[in-house]
Amino acid sequence: MLRSVFFVSVKSTPWPHDGSDMKAIGEIARARNASLGITGALISTEDHFAGILEGPPPAIDAVMASIFRDARHWRVTVLEEVDLAERLFDRWSLAFAGRASLVDLRVTPRLLSVPADPADVRHLKELIRAFAGAL
Ligand SMILES: Cc1cc2nc3c(=O)[nH]c(=O)nc-3n(C[C@H](O)[C@H](O)[C@H](O)COP(=O)(O)O)c2cc1C
Repeated sequence: MLRSVFFVSVKSTPWPHDGSDMKAIGEIARARNASLGITGALISTEDHFAGILEGPPPAIDAVMASIFRDARHWRVTVLEEVDLAERLFDRWSLAFAGRASLVDLRVTPRLLSVPADPADVRHLKELIRAFAGAL
């Protein structure tokens, strides 16, 4: 079985001072995800992260536990957690959207309030798939 978790969060260090955080996250995420059979995508905007992880449930639980306690962001908000028949992302990738980006407009502020509008969640997910080249 595969599980998918879709989350958004607020960066502790916004662009343009977030370069070292991004580099460190990318390095650990690529290595750890590959070792655990996790695929997905992470979008970094000026102020936010939006990430989708998919893989075996115990692996997803372990990485999400790390992500929740990571001080490089806060207000980690799970938008969707679903079981999947097949992966939507067949590789891990990082797509960077620049400042004042379309993605920032999509994340702020409604997705960070609970419960999020399902149409907002669907649109952002499609945008991330497009950025990650998964469409
Ligand atoms: C927005 C964001 C996304 C992250 N995504 C991943 C990820 O997909 N996989 C991963 O292993 N770590 C990811 N990390 C890093 C983890 O939070 C954590 O630092 C790392 O997995 C090491 O785990 P540990 O701190 O429990 O040892 C992410 C961190 C942030 C802030």
